[in-house]
Amino acid sequence: MQKIEIQGGNNLSGEIFISGAKNSAVALIPAAILCNEETTIYNVPEISDRDDLIKIIELLNGNVKVNQDILTIDSKQIKNVYIPEELSSKLRASYYFMGALLGRNKYVEISLPGGCKIGNRKIDFHLKGFQALGAVITEEENKLILKADKLIGNKIYLDFASVGATINIMLAACKAEGTTIIHNAAKEPEIANVATFLNNMGAKISGAGTSKITIEGVEYLHKAMIEVIPDRIEAGTYIIIGSLLGHNLRIKNVIKEHLTSLIAKLQEIGVSIESEKNDLIINKNDKLKAFNIATLIYPGFPTDLAQPMTVLMTQCDGLSILEETIYSNRMGQVPYLNSMGADITVRNQMAFIKGKTPLIGNDVVASDLRAGASLITAGLIAKGKTKISEIEHILRGYEHIVEKLSNVGANIKIIEEV
Ligand code: EPU
Repeated sequence: MQKIEIQGGNNLSGEIFISGAKNSAVALIPAAILCNEETTIYNVPEISDRDDLIKIIELLNGNVKVNQDILTIDSKQIKNVYIPEELSSKLRASYYFMGALLGRNKYVEISLPGGCKIGNRKIDFHLKGFQALGAVITEEENKLILKADKLIGNKIYLDFASVGATINIMLAACKAEGTTIIHNAAKEPEIANVATFLNNMGAKISGAGTSKITIEGVEYLHKAMIEVIPDRIEAGTYIIIGSLLGHNLRIKNVIKEHLTSLIAKLQEIGVSIESEKNDLIINKNDKLKAFNIATLIYPGFPTDLAQPMTVLMTQCDGLSILEETIYSNRMGQVPYLNSMGADITVRNQMAFIKGKTPLIGNDVVASDLRAGASLITAGLIAKGKTKISEIEHILRGYEHIVEKLSNVGANIKIIEEV
């Protein structure tokens, strides 16, 4: 079994280059099969989610060429093939094949998606959206069948501004007859990235990035290309690590506007963050003040950064409170942080964190992707050795994380151990 081993305590300096955004790439790859020709996606991160999506495209009779971070996807011959559980359950984003195949073939047979176990992750808004466009959905055990004679544009109101539902409905609607309007759409930057890709293929989508998206259906989508935006969550993770250990730590290739909530909060508590073009330079502060945050939909504080943030809170003087409002079970890191010396109590999706507590290295488990990022952060500041198991969760979403951190001075490596 692979584990990550960290000998904590090293300050970090040098440069970390931010990769393409996981949550954009995992939607852009399925979106490519809406195209009847060939598409090219640049700046795709080398993460296991990418490889799992490529396997699904190949199952559907598409052809994918990988040249470092460039994917060329030939989707001329895409067929209706059942996407079985062993592929769909590997990741959450397999659900984007529902919208893409429905738009393309008006028929989808797929098992339910997987992904991090961070609460009850329903897909009812996706399915209601497809039904509003004319799809008939049947469920057999763990499998969904979506069928439509034709898709017809409609007005869809999302009860919650769900990222996945917004993208999935956009995918299906761009091949529907007439106009679809998504009200209360999610506004995350990844949604605008996907809309730009579809528009580059000839789709007619306006308003992506706002809460009202209008999609005029078109019949044919042609050859196109797109570049994945920089990963704001990867950048945010390294900014948090830099707040604890950075010594002129330069985070390169950042879209600062995507991280306003994080940067504002860190500057408020005393972290030094300077900006130079697309780079941020972070210097740690050993006298951080306790603070509170609640996770919110974009542009609020991102749920994906809340878990690494709990580690930072253990190093602040006083009581910090973190409220997770998006997912019902996103505190998987807490028992392990407490085993390393943190003082965190969780009640009703709120973490009460008393600091400042020194952390001591321990054997811990990455229960999900961002819990894993949080344990790496903890291991880097802890005294002694930390060993993290179940690191496949981490490698699903952070490109070359071990190399990136060791390049800036961390004592971190992947080891084989039973
Ligand atoms: N929800 C429903 N019904 C639905 C859809 C969502 O009840 O049909 C609920 C979910 O249960 C959850 C909330 O709405 O409580 C938010 O879900 P959303 O649909 O916005 O999230 P998602 O699309 O499943 C994406 C990212 C997540 C990220 C969230 C929020 C992907 C593949 N996943 O998830 O990324 O946390 O948006 O920004 O893009 C991660 O990267 O670690 C991660 C979990």
